[in-house]
Amino acid sequence: MTFSTTSDNKASPQALDDDLFAPSPRHPESRLEAEWLFLFNKLPPDQWFGADYAYKTSGWLKVHTNIRKRQRILTQISEGYQSGEYDWAKYRSQLLKRINMHILKLHQHHGVEDEGFFPEFIRMYPQLQAGFEILGRDHVRLDALLDKLQLQNDTLTRSEVEDKVLAVQLHQTLLDVTDLLSQHLSDEEDLVIPILGLRQG
Ligand SMILES: [Fe+2]
Ligand SMILES: [Fe+2]
Repeated sequence: MTFSTTSDNKASPQALDDDLFAPSPRHPESRLEAEWLFLFNKLPPDQWFGADYAYKTSGWLKVHTNIRKRQRILTQISEGYQSGEYDWAKYRSQLLKRINMHILKLHQHHGVEDEGFFPEFIRMYPQLQAGFEILGRDHVRLDALLDKLQLQNDTLTRSEVEDKVLAVQLHQTLLDVTDLLSQHLSDEEDLVIPILGLRQG
């Protein structure tokens, strides 16, 4: 009788244990390389709200919670129209100002990161530069999607007569923003929150 062997069979028990117990990034498609996770492994997500860290980490996490919440509300309103729950007037009245506010706040948040925090973090940890470059490129992609969303919202502002094609296009843009934000915010937190939590002062 012969036994087939796979590369897994060759891993040492210690390596298997390390793999099993190493915290893993929270997004299933995380783009963070294993060598960038040395701080994440020291301060994994289950400790981010611990007494020693929350006063340094919760501000950033709260901003992200609010971004996710606003994005979810916009998508729910759009779904409400698509499913027939909201008529055109209610859809517009619920969406117009909220989208403008969301876009404004996202641009402000990305500006603070690009011009202040990310360069500071790269000076502290040059070995994380490639990770922050991924996040910076996400901001550029998000800017393009937000420009598209703003144009669609401007058209919606002028569209007192129902325009189902516009609503479908706007819904798709919201879904695209949700996907990108979901990955971006998780990867950013996995990289940034341990820096904030572990730094002195
Ligand atoms: Fe960001
Ligand atoms: Fe952020």
